Amino acid sequence: MSSPSSAPLLEVEDLTVAFPSPAGPTDVVHEISFTLDPGRSLGIVGESGSGKSMTSLAIMGLLPPTARRTGRVRLAGREISSLPERQMRRIRGDRIAMIFQDPLSSLNPYYTVGLQIEEAYRAHRPNVTRRKARQVVVEAMERVQITDAARRVDHYPHQFSGGMRQRVMIAMALSTEPDLIIADEPTTALDVTVQAQILRLLRSVQQDTGAGLVLITHDLAVVSEMADDVVVMRSGQCVEYAGCEQLFSDPRHPYTCALIDAVPQLEDDVGELRAVGDAGPSRGGER
Ligand SMILES: Nc1ncnc2c1ncn2[C@@H]1O[C@H](COP(=O)(O)OP(=O)(O)OP(=O)(O)O)[C@@H](O)[C@H]1O
Ligand SMILES: [Mg+2]
Repeated sequence: MSSPSSAPLLEVEDLTVAFPSPAGPTDVVHEISFTLDPGRSLGIVGESGSGKSMTSLAIMGLLPPTARRTGRVRLAGREISSLPERQMRRIRGDRIAMIFQDPLSSLNPYYTVGLQIEEAYRAHRPNVTRRKARQVVVEAMERVQITDAARRVDHYPHQFSGGMRQRVMIAMALSTEPDLIIADEPTTALDVTVQAQILRLLRSVQQDTGAGLVLITHDLAVVSEMADDVVVMRSGQCVEYAGCEQLFSDPRHPYTCALIDAVPQLEDDVGELRAVGDAGPSRGGER
């Protein structure tokens, strides 16, 4: 893809999503802007209904038909927000991979997980042989630490635990070696110990592959562990956009402060970060 090599991996500029309503179009996402570089991760945090999912769906061109989107989305310098659906389809699942909350609803119970990863992969690599595709699938499953992957490829979704199914989804997302991974509440459906494992896995594969990660969550503890930069959303607006350390050490917006104060177990981490923040120069800043 021809693009200036200095361009960020993802640039979102004045992204707005509106739905029609009796009172006229209503913005559920209002002029959101952020950038993401390769190998970096950006957390989008905010309460339910704040517009996190609509932001990610707008980036991928997957909004509901009644939604109206304005603003620009650039991938490696190339504007993708105005591309026809046919071209977007080629980008989704190839250069941009998506991981959603509920792995069970994304997997077909009647096909083995291996076949489903293989189909997703071959949709974007139609010229590879089945044999090569199978090899890619096993490797992808090994990368997400599914033991005995060569045998497990032939198992059906119900034979996997919830955490293992999410590993399968991550394997599927990684099979095409995407530049950008968008994960929308990837661990919300899992129990707490498995959540931590999956998040650590996601972070490590993202760092190993050098992909950019947009991680959507309502969980500030997850953000503090996973994100380099953070967008705090409220009622469709970005109320704060800052480096993660700066956000926790020196939150600028009262809403961010309220979010941080609402998570007691964060206090220790935040105390440490505050000490660091006082000592060193801060990154980012409110926008
Ligand atoms: N098809 C639709 N028509 C009209 N409004 C919609 C539609 N889909 C979503 N919305 C509204 O858009 C707003 C943002 O929704 P969104 O799904 O982005 O929130 P969210 O931050 O992802 O919340 P959650 O944490 O619950 O997933 C909400 O107020 C929602 O009611
Ligand atoms: Mg959502």
